[in-house]
Amino acid sequence: MAINSVKGTHDIIGKEAMGYQYIENVFKAVCELYGYRPLVTPILEHTEVFTRATGEASDVVRKEMYTFLDKGGRSLTLRPEGTAGAIRCLVEHKLAATNDLPLKYYYFGPVFRYERPQLGRYRQFIQAGIEAVGEDSPYLDAEAIVIAMRTLDFLGFQNLKVKVNSLGDQASRDAYRNALRDYFRPHLDSMCADCQERFKLNPLRMLDCKVPSDIELGKNAPNISDYLSDEAEKRFYKTLSLLNALGVEYEVDPGLVRGLDYYGQVVFEVHATSSSGADYGALLGGGHYDGMLSDFGGDKSIDHGVGFAMGVERLYSILQEDGKLEGVDPGLDIYLMPLGEDVLPDCFELAEQIRGLGYTVSLPYEKLKMGAMFKRAERANAKFAIIVGSDEIAMGEVQLKNLATKEQISAKIETLQETLDSLFGETEEGHHHE
Ligand code: HAM
Repeated sequence: MAINSVKGTHDIIGKEAMGYQYIENVFKAVCELYGYRPLVTPILEHTEVFTRATGEASDVVRKEMYTFLDKGGRSLTLRPEGTAGAIRCLVEHKLAATNDLPLKYYYFGPVFRYERPQLGRYRQFIQAGIEAVGEDSPYLDAEAIVIAMRTLDFLGFQNLKVKVNSLGDQASRDAYRNALRDYFRPHLDSMCADCQERFKLNPLRMLDCKVPSDIELGKNAPNISDYLSDEAEKRFYKTLSLLNALGVEYEVDPGLVRGLDYYGQVVFEVHATSSSGADYGALLGGGHYDGMLSDFGGDKSIDHGVGFAMGVERLYSILQEDGKLEGVDPGLDIYLMPLGEDVLPDCFELAEQIRGLGYTVSLPYEKLKMGAMFKRAERANAKFAIIVGSDEIAMGEVQLKNLATKEQISAKIETLQETLDSLFGETEEGHHHE
């Protein structure tokens, strides 16, 4: 019987793999522009990392984690998001003691959630995220949004909708939770079992309920904006004014509370639909958080962070549908064509020499007909063919054919570097190996 991939997971192959890699490269380049550095933490963490930091009341932690006992009887979890593990790592290695603050890191890798698979929703998916940790500043909050927008802009997204809101400080949220409990209490009996649980754990989570009648009820619930302390409100306006100064367009969405428990102050999401109208859900979500470092025994005086994570599958799907990934296949510089069995060893060596010059080369490993080799060169998206016959090899020469213009010249192997450099210098994109 055939064995297929696990439900909700997917293989990334061929052009798709190049598209994903392109997105990763753009994301990394943008993060580096802002002085962020790469961080690679384990996919596997102690379950407590997420129950403590990501939040007991969130659906992600309550229902969606891949948690199991390992052979030593420890409860381990495949990370359902990147933030908690990143903070665990920064605290464990005391990075705040030996580095300037804020610590600024980015990451790119798989995360796991046991959700119902549907458009834009997987059980294993890739998140590209950043965290700026150790300093409490609206500048950093605004910068996180700006980094996300610059990444999306570089990737070619248009018509983005940026939603921002403030969840305020602890006092604001305490007051708001009380108001939510007062609002929902008379309806509690008619609400879903999850909401009855959320009522106790964190009534904010009642606002992300997916049950239609509960959504309806949530529409008239009080807004956090009416419960912000003066200070939280001032801070929110400061963040918005920084966005205004940089020309980032956004809308304030008082209903945006995000699905994870750790947020305070500014939270944000970016939404987009493809040109065909397909809605893959939020492209990214993030926000500010206080108190997570001390969850892991870190320093209370620097207990702040802000970050976001993008769903890379969602980015890919929209870019692909909108034809924005057409140019990501770098193709091949040279397809080497041995004319006959006896020049195969020479070609094998020549290919190595040319790769040493920085050009990408493929070749067949057995004798093929000319027509078959030209087909392969075309499928590999090759720019040039180098045709190698035994007589020419004896004279130290090869035939060099531009596969676009069909122009063909003979070239001395001895001076191949100069010839290739000038030929590739002439092609439209120029030589991309510099
Ligand atoms: P999140 O909103 O839970 O935030 O996830 C971030 C993004 O991951 C979403 O906006 C979406 O694009 C993508 N995503 C979520 N679930 C799925 C799924 N099942 N399939 C495909 N894509 C999905 C976080 O995870 C926070 N750690 C972000 C953050 C970083 N906040 C502060 N720092």
